[in-house]
Amino acid sequence: MLVSVIFLLLIVQQLALCEHTDHCRAKHEKVKAIDMVRSINKTPKISWKASTYKLKEIDMNLIAKTKLGVRMEDMRMMTSAKVQKLEKESKKPTANATNIPENFTWANANHAKCPLGTIRDQSNCGGCWALAPASVLSDKFCLKSNGTITTPLSHQKLLSCVENNYGCSGGYMRYVFDFLKQYGTITGGEFDSDKGCQMYEIRPCGAFSSKMPCAFPEAFTPKCRGDRCNNEWYKYKTEKNHYKMLEYKWVPAFFSDDQARQEIYENGPILATFWVYPDFVLYKKGIYVHKMGWWPLGGHAVKVVGWGVENDVKFWHVANSWGEDWGENGYFRIRRGTNECNFDWNLTALVPDYNNNNKTKSVSGTQ
Ligand SMILES: *[C@@H]1O[C@H](CO)[C@@H](O)[C@H](O)[C@H]1NC(C)=O
Ligand SMILES: *[C@@H]1O[C@H](CO)[C@@H](O)[C@H](O)[C@H]1NC(C)=O
Ligand SMILES: *[C@@H]1O[C@H](CO)[C@@H](O)[C@H](O)[C@H]1NC(C)=O
Ligand SMILES: *[C@@H]1O[C@H](CO)[C@@H](O)[C@H](O)[C@H]1NC(C)=O
Ligand SMILES: *[C@@H]1O[C@H](CO)[C@@H](O)[C@H](O)[C@H]1NC(C)=O
Repeated sequence: MLVSVIFLLLIVQQLALCEHTDHCRAKHEKVKAIDMVRSINKTPKISWKASTYKLKEIDMNLIAKTKLGVRMEDMRMMTSAKVQKLEKESKKPTANATNIPENFTWANANHAKCPLGTIRDQSNCGGCWALAPASVLSDKFCLKSNGTITTPLSHQKLLSCVENNYGCSGGYMRYVFDFLKQYGTITGGEFDSDKGCQMYEIRPCGAFSSKMPCAFPEAFTPKCRGDRCNNEWYKYKTEKNHYKMLEYKWVPAFFSDDQARQEIYENGPILATFWVYPDFVLYKKGIYVHKMGWWPLGGHAVKVVGWGVENDVKFWHVANSWGEDWGENGYFRIRRGTNECNFDWNLTALVPDYNNNNKTKSVSGTQ
């Protein structure tokens, strides 16, 4: 009894420390990949498999800095006091899920006109906060336009130009939302893809990629170029169209995920922010459930493309931004209905400002 009380107190104390990103990171050191993979894979009845991705050891501190990107403090806002209030609100009946299928995903929809399956790659840059919303909005503009707008929207511009955020050192979702409402973003695809105006400037590399190694352990945040293009094959030197966001809607799945699923089904992929623990990094396939690593590495933003049920386990189908070599061809599935790593509670739908997207001429950033 006494032992467990002391143990509990220790945990509480550690969690309090963990409110500061630096303290939290300090708990993670280099981990032998093979050891963690073995113990995950031999866990009885586990619904997912891990892989070492050919890594000998994993520097968890580096992963926290370069593969995630939602600021810890941003995540904490919601895990604390607000939750009860939100819980009450979510009890109100909101959705009618009668016609929503048991399994659905935009990823293999083979949409006739929209490239919904594109997986982005943040490389060694903590910029998920820019990649995920750009990816969600790209899909939504394409769906809403019936496939007229197929060029991806620029995560690069968001990464480098959202003033209050920290580029590759992470960001707050509210600032990128403000920016998307006010200025929007322009077109721009993956590194060297020749798609759109302002492409991602950081070459894919490192841990989860078979491509060239990184020049530096952590990428530098590229300079903000305003609306100037870095794709010399693009039809303009400077992009004129701004693709803005009208608003965002919080669609939490506290007691029911009907509202979130209906939103995905009718309007396209949505955004999720959740806690990443060390074992998630080694996810290879199956339905992820947190098993190992006590301390979250940090907050991560991703794009939810669907859901389903497999062997009676409900899951979300999610596009990550770690390239196609990671997980299930760049995607992962995470258990749905148990608020795994806070996933269910913080789902957000982004509404494209479709009718207005050509009207904005204001530009943020240096020209
Ligand atoms: C919840 O989502 C909002 C918007 O996406 C974000 O600002 C906030 O940090 C998130 N909180 C958590 C706990 O994920
Ligand atoms: C819910 O769906 C059913 C069946 O499609 C329909 O009859 C009913 O009117 C809907 N209710 C609401 C509130 O939309
Ligand atoms: C998309 O196509 C459908 C069916 O062809 C049509 O009903 C709808 O109005 C179109 N939407 C837009 C935005 O053009
Ligand atoms: C959903 O997918 C699971 C696993 O593939 C399958 O067993 C189930 O029958 C599917 N449900 C429907 C309604 O198709
Ligand atoms: C915006 O304007 C351009 C040029 O006038 C046009 O080609 C494009 O289709 C428009 N986009 C939308 C979404 O209406």
